[in-house]
Amino acid sequence: MSQTPRHLLGLRGISATQLHEWLARAAHWENEGDQVHRVLNDRFVVNMFFENSTRTRFSFEVAEKRLGAEVMNFSAGVSSVQKGESIEDTVRTLEAMGVHAGVIRLKQEGVLQALMNKVRVPLVNAGDGCNEHPTQGLLDLYTMKKQFGEIKDLNVTIIGDIKHSRVARSNLWALRELGANVRFCAPFEMRAPELADFADYISMDQALQSDVVMMLRVQLERHDQTNAMFSDTSAYRAAYGLTAERLSVMQSHAICMHPAPINRNVEMDDEVIDAPQSRVFPQMANGVPVRMAVLEWVMKK
Ligand code: CP
Repeated sequence: MSQTPRHLLGLRGISATQLHEWLARAAHWENEGDQVHRVLNDRFVVNMFFENSTRTRFSFEVAEKRLGAEVMNFSAGVSSVQKGESIEDTVRTLEAMGVHAGVIRLKQEGVLQALMNKVRVPLVNAGDGCNEHPTQGLLDLYTMKKQFGEIKDLNVTIIGDIKHSRVARSNLWALRELGANVRFCAPFEMRAPELADFADYISMDQALQSDVVMMLRVQLERHDQTNAMFSDTSAYRAAYGLTAERLSVMQSHAICMHPAPINRNVEMDDEVIDAPQSRVFPQMANGVPVRMAVLEWVMKK
């Protein structure tokens, strides 16, 4: 094992060259189909989810199995975390048993950065609080690249709960690095003032003229108080939802995306989710080859 493990904690600061390399490798794995390639034969990967997940957890597991890895799934709810064991001690315990890499999702921010200096195995961030969700950002880039061929100069608007969104942050950093024009659209209470230097806020009407309309889930579990805007879901839909009517004014070449899970008929109407412009389910499919590319990279000997 390398003395300095390759972690993937976020997309901020990752070079365009590296991003392109992962996207190209993901395309390679997608072209390989659903065959198993034993590039991680005899290597143990543990998925440690301290916060709920469906897409990320299972697409990592499929990716690991397609690469021939031995997969272990850790569930905080039935672990010694329930007896008060810390996240650090949990990760170090699994490391002591000989796992070769860990995929980790956390409610907290900052914990991963501290862990990085205390473990010798590579870690992949599967989403930490409101900070980053790098493999979601990469699968979103991959989805855009498949659609448009190039990400440079694409107009991408991210709509919704920017303040609490790790998906928005990972997309922002990587899209800017690749030369896309990123803008936000959000109610005042869901804006992120610390990101104001990196993306302008535009109106919903302007947002609908983008090449990519990326909707976000309202992260109610990360709100510290009842959100007046979202407590009235019909008001939120009326102001910020991607309704069928709004979809009809988007440009003919444009696509809409959502990382899911979706608050249906609030952030996106049912018929929009299933519309030809929607990439919601293709995004999920793209998660597997993208995560294969990342796992292969972090575990490269
Ligand atoms: N998009 C995403 O991270 O979904 P999960 O929370 O289900 O993993």
